Amino acid sequence: MSLQQQSISSDEIIQERIQKLGPWFHNLRLRGVQTAPEHFLGDYPQIKFANFRDAIPGDLTGKTVLDIGCNAGFYSLEMKRRGAERVLGIDTDERYLRQARFAAEVEDAEVEFLQMPVWDIASLGEKFDLVIFMGVLYHLRHPLLALDLIHEHVARDMFLFQSMQRGSREIVEAEEDYDFNVKAPFDEPGYPKMHFVEHRYSHDQTNWWIPNRACVEAMLRSSGFTIESQPEDEVYMCRWKPVAVPADGPHCVYPPKGAAQ
Ligand SMILES: C[S@@+](CC[C@H](N)C(=O)[O-])C[C@H]1O[C@@H](n2cnc3c(N)ncnc32)[C@H](O)[C@@H]1O
Repeated sequence: MSLQQQSISSDEIIQERIQKLGPWFHNLRLRGVQTAPEHFLGDYPQIKFANFRDAIPGDLTGKTVLDIGCNAGFYSLEMKRRGAERVLGIDTDERYLRQARFAAEVEDAEVEFLQMPVWDIASLGEKFDLVIFMGVLYHLRHPLLALDLIHEHVARDMFLFQSMQRGSREIVEAEEDYDFNVKAPFDEPGYPKMHFVEHRYSHDQTNWWIPNRACVEAMLRSSGFTIESQPEDEVYMCRWKPVAVPADGPHCVYPPKGAAQ
């Protein structure tokens, strides 16, 4: 038993560390002790995950996983339990990363957690078999840029995506083009729309853009992801596909740091 394991061996110490590291957004069970039993969304994210757990391969042996906006590591740890060879979780918030590292330590799981914003993922210089991007898009001022960066720099195959959605659940099949004087489609509830949050939504000043369903799906397609399934209202399992490179130059919107321009 490692020194680290010995230091967290008693349930009382686990309870104490959980308290010290709080408040938690993920309700994990660390040796049976819940980290956020009073979560406003219930047993989160366990109850959400129950709806789409089977959309992800049960056996990830030999696969690599990047969990962007990993928070306390619920999905990272789950992917490790499924046998992933390498799991990297990134997040901007060091408090959540401390929670994630502690959870991995308690589970004795070899998962790496790094403080890194989605904007810097090109610096990883690595592509992953499964990229997880759950619950982050609407926290960004530049959401489409994030999807482009993921497509360009870190995604290789599977892409698990979730966004909060507001507005109509209808989908208007957009035409290839519209004449300048055609204005009616924009008033249709099912036309792709993003709602801009100038102040706060749900008392959270980090909520910036909330798309409707049509918009989420159009953004995924536009960034080079094919939607394979929608196992839950807001959750999509996608596949990476190449995007057409314009004849006048590379599509790359954000070259890796240090790369020749
Ligand atoms: C709503 S939580 C979602 C957590 C987790 N992915 C889930 O689905 O349960 C959003 C997470 O994204 C992180 N985050 C916000 N902006 C980010 C950014 N620019 N790059 C990486 N992570 C970010 C937050 O710190 C937070 O942990």
